[in-house]
Amino acid sequence: MKALVFHKPLDVRVETVSDPKIEEPTDAIVRVTASSICGSDLHIYNGFFPQRKPLVLGHEFMGIVVEVGSGVKKLKVGNRVIVPFPIACGRCYFCQADLPGHCDQSNPKHYGPEGGTVEGKGGGLFGYTELYGGYQGGQAELVRVPYADFGPRRVPDRLTDEQVLFLTDILPTGWTAIDWAGLKGGETVAVFGCGPVGLMAQKCAWLRGAGRVIGLDREDYRLQKAQQVARSETINIEEVDPVEAIRAMTGGRGADVCVDAVGMEAHRSFLKKMSNVIHAQVGSIHALELALSAVRRGGVVPVVGVYGAPYDKFPLGQIFDKAIRLQAGQAPVHRYVDELLKLVEGGKLQTDDIITHRLPLSRAPHGYEIFCKKLEGCVKIVLTP
Ligand SMILES: NC(=O)c1ccc[n+]([C@@H]2O[C@H](COP(=O)([O-])OP(=O)(O)OC[C@H]3O[C@@H](n4cnc5c(N)ncnc54)[C@H](O)[C@@H]3O)[C@@H](O)[C@H]2O)c1
Ligand SMILES: [Zn+2]
Ligand SMILES: [Zn+2]
Repeated sequence: MKALVFHKPLDVRVETVSDPKIEEPTDAIVRVTASSICGSDLHIYNGFFPQRKPLVLGHEFMGIVVEVGSGVKKLKVGNRVIVPFPIACGRCYFCQADLPGHCDQSNPKHYGPEGGTVEGKGGGLFGYTELYGGYQGGQAELVRVPYADFGPRRVPDRLTDEQVLFLTDILPTGWTAIDWAGLKGGETVAVFGCGPVGLMAQKCAWLRGAGRVIGLDREDYRLQKAQQVARSETINIEEVDPVEAIRAMTGGRGADVCVDAVGMEAHRSFLKKMSNVIHAQVGSIHALELALSAVRRGGVVPVVGVYGAPYDKFPLGQIFDKAIRLQAGQAPVHRYVDELLKLVEGGKLQTDDIITHRLPLSRAPHGYEIFCKKLEGCVKIVLTP
């Protein structure tokens, strides 16, 4: 089959690799009909997460079931499914507790309670390095899907691939941020980052009762997208001090909720970059620092942007003084996906309006380049094999 293979940072190629096979009775093989490139893929592409062996990337994908193992009961050949990005067994302590990203079965080599930089990692993820299980991903013609009765969800035929594809990752991720915020109604929600995840968080904020939604980014074309698809007010962080701007909009207090939908690859000054090098840090917490400064006292900072290492000068004193509630982590996609599918089906949530590029899988390397460098107005790419 053809697949997008990561070789080394900035070197991804579409190649012929061996077809995946059923390895466990609970596996299924899915023929991919659509996949996408996620901001999280960029952390591998840019070398922020190490991967030494060639690996098929991709954790946002959907398709048709073409084969099932002998132990698969619910899923049938021919079913059209979306597949949540965390690989979860459905039976362990964490899966039972609705924390599929922490499944203690799906990443036997590198799993552990610590959450270190290279050891004690979480559960397996599709196409997301050896540290997260070494599973081949979905930017391919075929994928092996473990625990096929727990992850994949059937989708109604009348919804197109583009309407449901983002239920596998970015929509539940945006929803997670807003769910963690615990909105009661009327709050001001500021979202740092108007990439795909930030845009989904902005849409979800309205749905969950926000009174005001502010999107922040440094790319004008992405801010325009936020205005168009999420009706957000926007702030360009290069033009004004974003913290002062948010305070000015909120009677000096700060926003009730500041979502970090940027993560460790935040754009930052040369001085900050040098400081990261001196402290041997992987990326920076610059976006998180902005969120913590811009949130009001007693506010909430949901962190769905990815961070991969310990960081110096973590502002714990500020978090304490302002009594900020902080929650971070991978989205528990399985917990929310059914509810979100209903919202998409009922027309309450639209996600395909963020798609800017449709490319054949063979052009995926070009897709990585324009998504990473923010060229050609790229916000979200759909790949079709
Ligand atoms: N928690 C999860 O389960 C989960 C799931 C999917 C993605 N993610 C993570 O979410 C983050 C965003 O993903 P994405 O797909 O939207 O990626 P993206 O890279 O397209 O979006 C990030 C956006 O942040 C902007 N930005 C950079 N520095 C900024 C700053 N200082 N302030 C405000 N905006 C800034 C960039 O211009 C860009 O538009 C990534 O870290 C990704 O790994 C997490
Ligand atoms: Zn992702
Ligand atoms: Zn499990």
